[in-house]
Amino acid sequence: MNNGVRVKISALGTYVPPRVLSNHDLEKMVETSDKWIMERTGIRERHLADKGIATSDLGAEAAKQALCRRGMKATDLEALIVASVTPDMMFPATACLIQNKIGATGIWGFDISAACSSFLYALQVGTQFVKTGAQKRVMVVGADVMSSIIDYTDRATCVIFGDGGGAVILEPADDGLGMIDYLHEIDGSGACSLYMPGGGSLNPPTHETVDKKMHYVHQDGQAVFKFAVRKMAEVCDTLLKRNGLTGKDVKAFIPHQANKRIILNTAERLGMDLDKVIINIDRYGNTTSATIPLAMQTAIDEGRLKKGDLVLLAAVGAGFTVGAALLHWAY
Ligand code: UT7
Repeated sequence: MNNGVRVKISALGTYVPPRVLSNHDLEKMVETSDKWIMERTGIRERHLADKGIATSDLGAEAAKQALCRRGMKATDLEALIVASVTPDMMFPATACLIQNKIGATGIWGFDISAACSSFLYALQVGTQFVKTGAQKRVMVVGADVMSSIIDYTDRATCVIFGDGGGAVILEPADDGLGMIDYLHEIDGSGACSLYMPGGGSLNPPTHETVDKKMHYVHQDGQAVFKFAVRKMAEVCDTLLKRNGLTGKDVKAFIPHQANKRIILNTAERLGMDLDKVIINIDRYGNTTSATIPLAMQTAIDEGRLKKGDLVLLAAVGAGFTVGAALLHWAY
C-alpha cells in the first residue's frame, strides 16, 4: 500500500452530547454497581443524546469542527463517507443528512455499516479514493446514537454504550507521512453473537417485534469478548509483521473502546508498553463508530500523539468485523 500517493489525516473533529449518565445513575435504573461496571469494562460514565438529537447532528458537529481546524469550507470537500450503525433513518443515507447540515454542496457520499469497525473501514475506503487521485479531500465521519437502540432495563448491554461523533479529513500527503497499510476481515459466522434483529427486511417492524424487544442490541458478551481478544491481536500482529514492525515500534495504539480488558489484553499480546495505549472508555463508554476518532482526540489532548508518530488503529465488532490500520500521524 506504499505505492502511489500517500494519504494523510489532515484534521480531526469530535463531538459528544452534553448529558452524562454515570454508573451511579445506572445503579438507580438496573441491578448493577459502579464497582462491577468499572471492574468488568473500565467505564465510569457515558454521554447520551437527548430525545430528538440524531446521529447526523453529532456527526455534523464533529464535521464542522474538523473543517474549522483545517481552515476549509464544507464546499472544499469532494466526498463524505459516514460510518454508523444508528443512521437517522433506514434511508436516506446519513451522509446526505450531514452533507446538507454542513452545507457541503456539490459533493457525493454514502454510508458504511460495519458495526464497531465502521470507522476503520470507512477510513480505508476514503483513503483509496484519495490514493487513486479520484478525490483530493474526503471527509470520514463516525457517529452513533447507541442509546436509540439500547434497552435501559437490560443491565448486560445498557452499561456499555454511549453516544458520540468524530470526523477526519483525508488529503494527499507530500511529506511521506499518513496511511501505511491495513488489514480487515469479516466473519459472518459470528452474526448471532451481537445484533439487532428487528427493523430490517427479515423482521420488519410490527407490534410483535416491539413487544419482543427486537429493536434493541442483543449480545452474547462472552462470545464477543473471546473473539475480540483473539482476533484483534491477530490482525494487529500480522499487519505489524508484514511491515517489519513489532508492538514496541508503535508510539500510539488507538483501539476501538469496547472494554478496557479487551484493550489491555490485546496490547499485552502485542508486547506493547502500556503507556502507548490510548484509553478513554472511562469517559465515553462504547460509542461504536465514534470510539477511534474520540480516542485520537484524547491522545492529542494528553500530548501522546505527535507528527511523525507511528500509530496502530484496531477495531472489532458485530458481524463479526475486525480490522487494523498503520499510519504515521501527519500533523
Ligand atoms: O464493540 C464490540 C461490542 N461488544 C463487546 O466488545 C463486548 C464484549 N464483551 C464484554 O465486554 C463483556 O463480556 C461484558 C462487559 C459484556 C460482560 O462482562 P463479563 O465479565 O463477560 O460478564 P458475564 O456476561 O460473564 O456475566 C457475569 C455475571 C453474570 O451473573 P451470574 O450469572 O454470574 O450470576 C451476569 O448476569 O455478571 C452479571 N452481569 C452484571 N452484574 C452487574 C451482567 N451485566 C451486569 C451488570 N451489573 N451490568
